[in-house]
Amino acid sequence: MQLFLHLALATFVVAQSEPLAAITPPKGTQATNLPALGLGTWYAKGSNATAAVAQAIVDGYRLIDTSPFYNNQKEVGAGVREGIKRAGISRQDVWVTSKLWTTKHSDPNGGLKETLAELGLDYVDLWLIHWPMGPGNTFDHVPTWQKMEKLPATKMTRYIGISNFSPAQVKDVLKVATIKPKVMQIELHPYLPQEDFVASLQKQGITVNAYAPLGNTNPAYKSSATKLLQHSTIRSIASARGCTPAQVVLAWNMKRSVVVIPKAVQIAHQKENIATPACAAKLTAEDLEKIAQISNPPHRFMSSPCASNQFKCFEGTTKGF
Ligand SMILES: *[C@@H]1O[C@H](CO)[C@@H](O)[C@H](O)[C@H]1NC(C)=O
Repeated sequence: MQLFLHLALATFVVAQSEPLAAITPPKGTQATNLPALGLGTWYAKGSNATAAVAQAIVDGYRLIDTSPFYNNQKEVGAGVREGIKRAGISRQDVWVTSKLWTTKHSDPNGGLKETLAELGLDYVDLWLIHWPMGPGNTFDHVPTWQKMEKLPATKMTRYIGISNFSPAQVKDVLKVATIKPKVMQIELHPYLPQEDFVASLQKQGITVNAYAPLGNTNPAYKSSATKLLQHSTIRSIASARGCTPAQVVLAWNMKRSVVVIPKAVQIAHQKENIATPACAAKLTAEDLEKIAQISNPPHRFMSSPCASNQFKCFEGTTKGF
């Protein structure tokens, strides 16, 4: 009996995802998992994107997230290189994530080469399949994953992962995978907690990374829902605990080991977001319960490219469009 219990526990522990890295690991640490908080760059443009990324690194950010779809990889890469210089650190101190766009599913190697050329970097730390479907409305996630598995050996990326997959698509990949996806990036915020999905990914050893962690702040998200940062529950908890609304919603995800990558091009916002751990320490169980009520009903803000192309995205998950 005792032995069985130990075995069961051991299996459970092994299957858990690796601990997240600190937001700012000590200089000279090449993180083996995502830093707990980083910078998103969708809608960061031009020289502003370069300045914002460089400033973030100076302020202690060590995770920068981009994608060829954001049309800013040249500027983001320049910001990474400038930030590294200004902060007096080296490339291995910063974790850079980018993603394979849907039109490149037949050639992830070529897609990654293009991304590296745009970024002006020798490698990325993490390369994700941005969406499970490729050209022609087909879900080609399994063969695409098998091509992705060849990439870590090229040293062009340290890790590979997935984004926007449904639970069934994650299963499809795990069935054939010789390399387990390191990370799954999905939309997560108090309007869309997806608790069961997050827990099952983490139990399978996959690190969960939230996009849109501040909810409907991005102009891309057209929704009549109250802005999450204006929500009365969030505002009242923020004022009771001496936090800002952004810190409350980021802390809520961080408390369940979900990595957050809020976009911020203003220095004040970057500083506010990176100070979230002090707020997380002040949230009570009662606060978290109140925040859980916000998702009734749920809201999902990312619909493109699914809605526009009539792809069946997010099957078996909270829809909440
Ligand atoms: C980016 O642009 C915004 C205004 O659009 C500005 O407030 C911000 O300071 C800029 N960021 C940096 C780091 O220069």
